[in-house]
Amino acid sequence: MSKKILVTGGVGYIGSHTVVELQQSGYQVLIVDNLSNSTEKIVDQIEKITGTRPGFTKLDLGDRTETLAYFKKHSDISGVIHFAAYKAVGESTTVPLKYYHNNLFSLINLLEAMDEIQCNSLVFSSSCTVYGQPEELPVSESAPVQKALSPYGNTKQISEEIIYDHSQTSALEAISLRYFNPIGAHESALIGELPLGVPNNLVPFITQTAMGKREMLKIWGDDYNTIDGTAIRDYIHVVDLAKAHVVALERMHGDKKHQRYEVFNLGTGEGSTVLDVILTFQSVNGVKINYQVAERRPGDVEKVWADTRKANEVLGWKTELGLDVMLKSAWEWEKKLNEGILGDLDKFRGNIR
Ligand code: UFG
Repeated sequence: MSKKILVTGGVGYIGSHTVVELQQSGYQVLIVDNLSNSTEKIVDQIEKITGTRPGFTKLDLGDRTETLAYFKKHSDISGVIHFAAYKAVGESTTVPLKYYHNNLFSLINLLEAMDEIQCNSLVFSSSCTVYGQPEELPVSESAPVQKALSPYGNTKQISEEIIYDHSQTSALEAISLRYFNPIGAHESALIGELPLGVPNNLVPFITQTAMGKREMLKIWGDDYNTIDGTAIRDYIHVVDLAKAHVVALERMHGDKKHQRYEVFNLGTGEGSTVLDVILTFQSVNGVKINYQVAERRPGDVEKVWADTRKANEVLGWKTELGLDVMLKSAWEWEKKLNEGILGDLDKFRGNIR
């Protein structure tokens, strides 16, 4: 019998790609998602890719009673990958309690429910935001966690602490994966990123501008201390990222020596400027993007990219796909969305400007 894995937030962007990789590695996958920022149609899309339909339940992990009931019903879950959380950095600065309430209570309820059925393996979706602007680059896992720049970022820091504390006093084993900047879409172009309203992130803004859905891309600042003045990030293909979750889970389930709680950076180890991304997008896809330079965005760090040695050597994982593949796949997905692959997407793409 293959192992049963629960993916929370499994119809979201990174969650859905991870479900595909899990299924293709032979796992049986269950998804819970409250659909607050996603659509159940993604379950059909996953099935189209893998030929297997993951089990789906609409569930809000903030509901403790429902969460416990779900776990009692599925007491053979052997591991959990936890993505379900709010993630809009800007919004979190205007409604911090919404973020603290959702992201932290859902984690606590999840951990309690896992204890209830003695499910002791957790992979947690964390972020390089915990490093703030690091003093040394590339940034390694041993760099100090800095004061969060947003309530969203703070929920990632606090969540890591909650998981660490719990792992030291229970049977829980956990791995936090600190993502750099996930972009791109599955090569089938059947799943990808679905930003709600105006995208906050660079690549969906680029694809929507290229498609004519947005008039103009603004580059937030060209006076940073970088080669072309625009900010640097470590962009990672979402499929490479998804694969790391399977490896992390297998590390806990296997007999390799590991600590109860571990942290890994997930990046390529290479930084690209905003301008690099725009120019690469234009050249690999043969499309032009309207853009102009604007003021810096408050809260943005100047430059960050990952030291990937720990993930490479200890986890035995490394990225395979480059920026060109990432940006091609993002464009293929945008074109599919525009053709109506998900039908009426007003809620996601719609008129919210
Ligand atoms: N950018 C633009 N114009 C845009 C959007 C973004 O110039 O319209 C720039 C940003 O200023 C930044 C870069 O593109 O320099 C990347 O911005 P994103 O918003 O795509 O990504 P961030 O690095 O700001 O944020 C990401 C995740 C967060 C996470 C953070 C950690 O989206 O969840 O990394 O550093 F907290």
